[in-house]
Amino acid sequence: MSKEIFNPKRFNKSDNPDFDQVLEAHLSRRKMIKGGLGLGAMTMFGAFGLAGCNSSNSSTPIVDSGTPTPTPTTPSVPTASSARLGFNSIPGSKIDAVSVPEGYTAQVLAPWGQPIMSGGSEWKRDGSNNATDQANAMGMHHDGLHFFPLNDDGSDGLLCVNHEYIDQNALHPNGSDKDADGIRSSVDQVRKEINAHGVAVVRIQLIANEWKVVDNDPLNRRYTGATTMNISGPLANSDKLKTPFSPDGSQARGTLNNCGNGYTPWGTYLTCEENWPGYFINKGTTTAEQDRIGIETSSTTRYGWETVAGSPEERVDEFARFDVTPTGNSAMDDYRNEANGHGYIVEVDPYTANSRAVKRTALGRFRHEGCTFGKLTEGKPITFYSGHDSRFEYMYKFVSDALWDPADADAKNRMAMGDKYMDAGTLYVAKFDADGVGTWLPLTMTGSTKNGGTLADHFTSLAEIILNTAGAADLVGATPMDRPEWCAVDPFTGSVYLTLTNNTRRNAATGTNPANPRLNNKFGHIIRWDEGETHTTFSWDIFVFGSDAAGDAATNLSGLNEFNQFASPDGLAFDKRGIMWIQTDNGADEVQNYTNDQMLAVVPSMLTDTDGKQQTIDDANQGELRRFFVGPNGCEVTGFTITPDYTTMFVSIQHPGNWPYSDNAAQETPNGMTLRPRASLVAIRKADGGALGV
Ligand code: FEO
Ligand code: CA
Ligand code: CA
Repeated sequence: MSKEIFNPKRFNKSDNPDFDQVLEAHLSRRKMIKGGLGLGAMTMFGAFGLAGCNSSNSSTPIVDSGTPTPTPTTPSVPTASSARLGFNSIPGSKIDAVSVPEGYTAQVLAPWGQPIMSGGSEWKRDGSNNATDQANAMGMHHDGLHFFPLNDDGSDGLLCVNHEYIDQNALHPNGSDKDADGIRSSVDQVRKEINAHGVAVVRIQLIANEWKVVDNDPLNRRYTGATTMNISGPLANSDKLKTPFSPDGSQARGTLNNCGNGYTPWGTYLTCEENWPGYFINKGTTTAEQDRIGIETSSTTRYGWETVAGSPEERVDEFARFDVTPTGNSAMDDYRNEANGHGYIVEVDPYTANSRAVKRTALGRFRHEGCTFGKLTEGKPITFYSGHDSRFEYMYKFVSDALWDPADADAKNRMAMGDKYMDAGTLYVAKFDADGVGTWLPLTMTGSTKNGGTLADHFTSLAEIILNTAGAADLVGATPMDRPEWCAVDPFTGSVYLTLTNNTRRNAATGTNPANPRLNNKFGHIIRWDEGETHTTFSWDIFVFGSDAAGDAATNLSGLNEFNQFASPDGLAFDKRGIMWIQTDNGADEVQNYTNDQMLAVVPSMLTDTDGKQQTIDDANQGELRRFFVGPNGCEVTGFTITPDYTTMFVSIQHPGNWPYSDNAAQETPNGMTLRPRASLVAIRKADGGALGV
């Protein structure tokens, strides 16, 4: 990008426009963009009906934006991206460094332990930072993230970053203090672990082509596994949420295992609680809901936090709450309801310092991987998609009662927009049928069950349905999937893409189904769908199957080769140019022996046949799926966001083995050197400052 855009004046704080101004400018611009998309959506969906990705309706005008509009009566709204990938696929790699295409750079940014607020010490290489240091620093195991600009070109902004879980060996000087029975002894260690979870909000600025964290910016903050949050939606103030900490059921403490993410059209961040059940234990009689979701029942929880309960240092039952065994006469006497405050989509307003996070219970309670809104249309509901990442679990969508008003993108009170669009609506679960059609089944009291009844035969309220979302989905006959991970929506076509990462337990006994057609699905696949004319119908096909290049014909169904073989698709995102970015969390030796986890790119809407019908990846077009990035040894590549000018992309490197050696993410750790590994963000740029990927 030209030097004019990276005007050094922008980095001079005194010259910067006042905060409200830049925010307003950003949101107004976004509103204009959304307006354009809304017109496109109305045209496609209103005038012509929705084109299923495998629909035979060839009358839908799919117009390559590079060609003239064919007739004066066809609105000139592109339905295919004009973006073309401008890099060559890179080979796999297995080194302690990241790999990027020629002409690109990769910078380590905001690694685990880097202080973002005063109140803690610098990160120490020996792991000796205490719980207070951790509460004021970047958390561990970075995952989903989103960039919220504070100026026009996006050289100044806020990153919201998920911290999914911890590696106790890296977090502490000598690993966990647990004894042979899993009993912990150090309160500070446990607090440090709780503080290493959650979300970071951190201001960053691009200065002389390098991203810098703005130390102690008033907007910097941490939400941890202990931060007080509000509950909204059907479960707010429910008896099932009442605890000694929150007698009226309006609050929960902490957010845990924040994996995928989302963001909203009104400028807030969504963080998704994924594998939270293992943090809670019931040593007594479990409920049907606890059995269904998998609350721990054996000797201790994942990290044994509850084992330091009763310590003289414990404050407000901060550890006791992880033991949800009923021991008293009522929910006011124990923490039987504590886990009921987890398993949600959590909304955070990055632009407001110290704002309270809100758990949006209407979007369901399960192991949420991500949360992605569908293509917006003025006057229509907003749809949010979220997958449940476990074997044989389901894909969900939430359709708001409120109808989208583009003016709400400018709302000053952003959390009020969350109240408007995310607290009332209908939760559905997907049933994928043969022949590329499917049905969204409502999870409401009147929702029909497989046996001819309704959910009212099994639940007394919507709150109860939400609390046991997966159990309700069982009853209505949802399709068991091969681990639904992230969703992404094509900004041109509105098609929704979902990664199904793998499922090696899909065998002859469990059987296959049309949407999950491979036994022992170790490589995973990406499915996509288009919404139908009503909220309950959709059409679908499978966009690409993961495989090693040497896979046989029954495995390598998409014709992948050395330069795009992949397994276990997980992170997934579209940028607004229509490029889809696919990240992997590898689970298959055949690919892992060739390369570390990686990120690939493709422009799906350009893959059309002569009728304009969208195509899947096959032998003929697989060259359009290109490897863009490879992570260091031991890591997972996850989380994606890009600046508005497309000149910097941020991804998370989670649980690397022996990295990073320096600020240059592509610099290899020297042979024989062992580092305390640090999860980190990587900022990827072109050396010439140009737009990425094209
Ligand atoms: Fe945290 Fe489903 O990956
Ligand atoms: Ca994931
Ligand atoms: Ca995964």
